[in-house]
Amino acid sequence: MKQDPTAQDAGQAPHGAAARRGTFRPGERVQLTDERGRMNTITLTPGTAYHTHKGFLNHDLLIGSPEGSMVESNVGQQYQALRPLLSDFVLSMPRGAAVVYPKDAGQIITMGDIYPGARVVEAGVGSGALSISLLRAVGDNGYLHSFERREEFADIARGNVETIFGGPHPAWKISLGDFQDQVVAQEAPGSIDRVVLDMLAPWECLDAVATVLAPGGVWINYVATVTQLSRTAEAIRADGRFTEPDAWESMVRGWHLEGLAVRPDHRMVAHTGFLMVTRRLADGVTGMSPKRRASKTDFAQEDLDAWTPAAVGERSVSDKKLRRAARDASSTVQTKRNQEQSQETETRQDGFGEQ
Ligand SMILES: C[S@@+](CC[C@H](N)C(=O)[O-])C[C@H]1O[C@@H](n2cnc3c(N)ncnc32)[C@H](O)[C@@H]1O
Repeated sequence: MKQDPTAQDAGQAPHGAAARRGTFRPGERVQLTDERGRMNTITLTPGTAYHTHKGFLNHDLLIGSPEGSMVESNVGQQYQALRPLLSDFVLSMPRGAAVVYPKDAGQIITMGDIYPGARVVEAGVGSGALSISLLRAVGDNGYLHSFERREEFADIARGNVETIFGGPHPAWKISLGDFQDQVVAQEAPGSIDRVVLDMLAPWECLDAVATVLAPGGVWINYVATVTQLSRTAEAIRADGRFTEPDAWESMVRGWHLEGLAVRPDHRMVAHTGFLMVTRRLADGVTGMSPKRRASKTDFAQEDLDAWTPAAVGERSVSDKKLRRAARDASSTVQTKRNQEQSQETETRQDGFGEQ
């Protein structure tokens, strides 16, 4: 007999999986694509409508419909309706800091060797985009401890993580403060399998990473500029407790596919960041010396003083904008919870559950 995968999932599916299957439910985010390929994401609310300058679409047409349905507005405009994928969600979710793009998150998971059950620490959390991919990779039985120095960013990230997983994730812990101080205060020496840093100055965390990372553990860094890349690599080499770092970038070029007009897209995201990976050696071992070590004089004091967020191109975001993003992130979770609660109550009153 054929099994209904949604029914089977309800009890034992990994966190957040059941909510990604079955028919559309109130409180869910749905991505609408119109006939010209334009996308919009709505949160399903019974009795309300999505309005455009070309009429409106009742949410009730979608609630209870299968994913991939085509629906029509009051003036006959067609929309294709799908649940946003993780890659869609991170590019449209509320944000304070710049997010790690999906192409880089994929690289980080694979090249950082993030596996189910791994014990991972991460900083900074920013808007939580990378945290979501890391949580998916470590799974319910793994452990992700994320550190963020700015409370407003942590609030935005929490809202985004809870929105996509439908509530708090069992493997996630978030702590406020500077990674380099907090991680050594909160994690036992040698207890961490993987370290993932996306921040301005990863070299400031070198000692802390060397302390918490287990021998053979992987440390992966994501930085926006070549100057950060170089300074991190030289610090790792000079320290000696790590393997020779490897660095790379990835470029993804989309393609236009239409009849005989099959060619690369005219535009692309040409630069996001650089990745660098290294591994912790066993205690007491000295790494194989590179042919030439950077000397202190490679970075004059003048260069070192120039390391500010603005100098490496980090956008400064106003407090007002951050407060609004945090409100947006948490109100999406709240709306979803309210919808779920009222649906549960209705379902109980009706005497039957969702199949
Ligand atoms: C580019 S954002 C991270 C984006 C995040 N990975 C994402 O995908 O949404 C960098 C973050 O690092 C934080 N940060 C910088 N240095 C830090 C440190 N030493 N400890 C903790 N957080 C730090 C900043 O406040 C900022 O939120």
